[in-house]
Amino acid sequence: MKIPFLDLGPQHQMLHEPILQAWTEILDTTRFVSGRSVAEFENAFGLAHEVEHCVAVSSGTEALVLILRTLGIGVGDTVVVPANTFIATAEAVSLVGATPVLVDCDPQSKNIDAAQAVTAARSRGARGIIGVHLYGQPADLDALDRDSDILVVEDAAQAHLATYKGRPVGGIGRAAGFSFYPGKNLGAPGEGGAITTNDSELAAEVRMLRAHGEVQKYESRIVGTNARMMELVASTLAIKLPHLADWTAARQQVAAWYGERLGDDPDIELPWHPDFVEPVYHLYVVHLEQRDTVAAMLNEAGIATGLHYPIPIHLQDAYHHLGYHQGDFPNAERSAARLLSLPMYPELTETEVDYVCDRLRDAVARCSDGEIHD
Ligand SMILES: Cc1ncc(COP(=O)(O)O)c(C=O)c1O
Repeated sequence: MKIPFLDLGPQHQMLHEPILQAWTEILDTTRFVSGRSVAEFENAFGLAHEVEHCVAVSSGTEALVLILRTLGIGVGDTVVVPANTFIATAEAVSLVGATPVLVDCDPQSKNIDAAQAVTAARSRGARGIIGVHLYGQPADLDALDRDSDILVVEDAAQAHLATYKGRPVGGIGRAAGFSFYPGKNLGAPGEGGAITTNDSELAAEVRMLRAHGEVQKYESRIVGTNARMMELVASTLAIKLPHLADWTAARQQVAAWYGERLGDDPDIELPWHPDFVEPVYHLYVVHLEQRDTVAAMLNEAGIATGLHYPIPIHLQDAYHHLGYHQGDFPNAERSAARLLSLPMYPELTETEVDYVCDRLRDAVARCSDGEIHD
C-alpha cells in the first residue's frame, strides 16, 4: 500500500468542472484583479468565522505583516512569538522592522506557553503576542490576553474553522492571519491569505495597505504595498469553502481513528488538546523516540510522513542574530527531535489509517526492543 502524506488530488478532481467554469468566466471578462470573486470570497470566509471583516491578501505571511503594520508595530518594537512554529510567524515581525521575542511551547499542547508569553511580553515591553494555532489547534488566547496593552494577534494559517471556547478562531484576538497555501485545510491554486477582524478601522487600513495605500485609483493616503489576491485564486477558494466543514469533519474522523488505534501505546505520544478547543487537524503530529528510524521504516512500507518543524525558530540560522542558544527552549527542542507528522487529509480511509497504525506500532516496538537503533 502507498500512502502519501497529503493528497490534493481528490478535492480538485471533484471540483474540476466548477473551477474551470469560474476560471473561464474570469478569462472572458479579463477581470483578473479586484473583481467580484475576491469580494464574494471575503464575505463567505468572514461569515464562516463569525467576524465582521475579512480582507483577502496574497499570502498568509503578508496577512501577518499587514496586521502588524496596521497596529503600528515597527522598528524598535518587540513582539512575542513561539519558538515552535513555522518561520513565517517570526518573519512577519522581522519584516516590519520589529524584533521577535521567542518563548517556549507548552509540553502537552505544543502551542505557545501562555504564562511565559505574558511574562516575556511584560519584561521586554512587547507591543504584542502572536498566538499560533499550531497544527490547527487553537492557542489559549484568553490566557495570553491578561494585559490590555499587549495586542494579541492570531496566526490562524493552519486553523480554518477551528474553535476556541465555542467560537471560531479569527475573531478572538485583535486580528488574525490565515493562509491558503495549497496544502492548507482550505488551499488555493497558488498563494493566498486573509485577515479577519472585528475592528473596522483595522480592516479599512488593511484594505488600503494591500493596494498601495489607495483610497481611490492613483490617490494614496498611506505607503502601502501590493498584496492583493488574484481573482483566479478567490474564485477557487469560494468554490471550495462550502465543502470545508465536511473536509474538517473528515480530518477529525481520521484523527479519532488514529487516537483509537494508537492511544494505548506507551511509546507513542498522541496530540493533546484542552477540552475548550476543537482542533481541525491541519497536521496530526505524534512524538516518539528514535523518530528518524521510525520515519525511515514507514517510508519503506510506503507511508510518507512529515516534520513540523525540525528546527525551532531560535536555532534557525536566519535568527542567529537574536542570540539564542541550544537549551533556551527545552520543550520546543525536545519536540523538534521527536515529532512526526502522520498522513492527514480528508479522504484517508479507515483501512489506510489501519495500515499506518499497524506499521507505526510495529516500527516503534522494534525500536524500543532495541532491535533497531537511530
Ligand atoms: C503557522 C504559519 N504561519 C504563517 C504561514 C505563512 O503562510 P503563507 O505560506 O501563505 O505565507 C504558514 C504557512 O505556510 C504557517 O503554517
